[in-house]
Formats: sequence, structure tokens, C-alpha cells
Amino acid sequence: MTDVTEIAAELRRLLPRAHAPYSGVHVAAAVEGTDGRVHYGVNVENAAYPQGVCAEASAISAAVTQGTRDLRRVYVASNLPELVWPCGGCRQKIFEFAAHGCEIVALGPDGGADRRTIDQLMPLGFRLEPATRSRV
Ligand code: THU
Repeated sequence: MTDVTEIAAELRRLLPRAHAPYSGVHVAAAVEGTDGRVHYGVNVENAAYPQGVCAEASAISAAVTQGTRDLRRVYVASNLPELVWPCGGCRQKIFEFAAHGCEIVALGPDGGADRRTIDQLMPLGFRLEPATRSRV
């Protein structure tokens, strides 16, 4: 299922599952791997605010759990009237798993959408090569 209208419909269906009692902002995200599989997540807030998890992070965790690590597209929908773009922390998380040309699609409530590549949203992103030996 990689059709944008189908994914947008699924995200709308998932929005009520967000756990956002503190902000009231419900966010749902989907990440599509280069393997064609799509994984979903919602934001999960916590009374200890910094422990909350964004929808994109939830979706990335689901993808990695299922063995999808190379992302070609990330979709974000919310209950806000304007388009929602990933926060800075989520841009870094997407950057970590982004396949070449990976794009982010922000989905509005009325079928509107806009898209940017991760390179546009995260220029000069921080990357660390996996260590093959101890750095100390
Ligand atoms: N949030 C996301 O889940 N993704 C974003 O891209 C922006 C913000 C969540 C975090 C918090 O639960 C709520 O939206 C309000 O900031």
C-alpha cells in the first residue's frame, strides 16, 4: 500500500489513537521503506513531558522492529489545520534511516499536501559512522 491517498486515509483513521492528553495535538506518521512496506506510528505523550514520543519516532521504531531500515518516504498528518513538518529531533531520526532522495510528505486535513526531501529539511545533518573498534 504505497498510494498517497490510501496512506492519508489510514493516518486519519489512526489519529484518534494518539495519546496526547497534554497538548491535544494528535499526530500520525507513516514511513515507507525501499522494500515497499509501510509502518505507522502515533505520538505518545507522557505526564513527564520529555518522555513523550513523536509519531515519526513511533513509526521509525515500528519499521526497524519489522526489519525496514531504508526509508524512501515519510508521511505526517495531524489534527491541526496547518501542515505539520517533523520536529528537529525527528528530522535527525529520519536522517539516520533515509535512503537517497528520501522525502517527507506533510498531509493537510483537506487533502492538501506538500513535500520536501530530508536534505532540504536537514542540511548538513550529523552522521556518525558505526564504530568498528573502541574510540577510547
Ligand atoms: N509531534 C509529533 O508527534 N510530530 C511532529 O512532527 C511534531 C510534534 C507531537 C509531539 C507532541 O506530542 C505534540 O505533537 C505537540 O507538540
